[in-house]
Amino acid sequence: MDIHSINKQELTEIIEKNKLNPSEELLSAARSVRNKYYGNRIFVRGLIEFTNYCKNNCFYCGIRAGNKNARRYRLTEEEIMQCCDEGNRLGFNTFVLQGGEDGYFTDEKICGIVSRIKSKYPDCAVTLSIGEKTRESYKAYRDAGADRYLLRHETANNGHYKRLHPKEMLLENRKQCLYTLRELGFQVGAGFMVGSPYQTSEMLAEDLIFLRELQPHMVGIGPFIPHCDSIFADRQAGTLQLTLTMLALVRLTLPKTLLPSTTALGTIDPEGREKGFDAGANVVMPNLSPTSVRGDYALYNDKICTGDESAQCVKCLRGRIERAGYVMDMGRGDSLTI
Ligand code: 5AD
Ligand code: FES
Repeated sequence: MDIHSINKQELTEIIEKNKLNPSEELLSAARSVRNKYYGNRIFVRGLIEFTNYCKNNCFYCGIRAGNKNARRYRLTEEEIMQCCDEGNRLGFNTFVLQGGEDGYFTDEKICGIVSRIKSKYPDCAVTLSIGEKTRESYKAYRDAGADRYLLRHETANNGHYKRLHPKEMLLENRKQCLYTLRELGFQVGAGFMVGSPYQTSEMLAEDLIFLRELQPHMVGIGPFIPHCDSIFADRQAGTLQLTLTMLALVRLTLPKTLLPSTTALGTIDPEGREKGFDAGANVVMPNLSPTSVRGDYALYNDKICTGDESAQCVKCLRGRIERAGYVMDMGRGDSLTI
């Protein structure tokens, strides 16, 4: 069966069949596709979570505006540069600036930070992950030198999107942002949570079909994990098995995509990230944020690595990657499709 042409119903059946226990056939097919294009290299990106202020109120998220228990922080431009300096010392060539939708960081500030990083580290890629903005804003970031942009679509099903977000947030707008980013020449990352409330296998099939249409350079997927101060505090987390199934299916759907084995996956299972590599993932994104604020960027509970120094994380990750039979690649790790 060719995954590139099968329909929603057939995809749904494959998901149903594998969701409790992804077949070795599925996982090994995903691995061989990954190996064909990327070999056994795992790319590493340095993640800088520079603000946990957010104007949105996504029901699943621990740093939503309505969570009065969140301890809020913003890094200064100097602190962000120090994170990059540390990343550079550790050998990173990609910096990912991620934050809530925080009006304090105007386009001018974001552009200033991006161009400062690019002029100090011209060979490094800068990725932004700061939410839905206008075309003009995206264009300004691109002109300032940003190379990549991550914006998970969260779910491609409109009804499902509405059950995960307040009514002012629209799936249509999010999808449009992704197409605009692509048009502006960004390497674009979409993605979704696995096992989020109300999600069905059919909706996951729709996610794959949307990805097939968008053809993003990167896809971020990880299990939903409840946060105690979110609307979904009492919900079950997504499972390891279903997440691995979806990683493998994304790999088969988009053979050349860059596919992180996420921190959320490492949170629900102590070997989650390694199992992710074995399902076709080929990226990890260790944290470069100062240890003092790590715990405050809590999208979900029990997040791993919040107490570790960046250097320690890199060492730990290198060990994990090598023990799992892979090689850590600290290059820029550009998409093969640009
Ligand atoms: N569990 C897992 N992932 C989450 N995200 C937000 N909240 C949670 C949660 N509770 C994901 C969203 C978002 C990304 C930055 O983190 O998919 O796009
Ligand atoms: Fe962070 Fe292991 S990856 S401590």
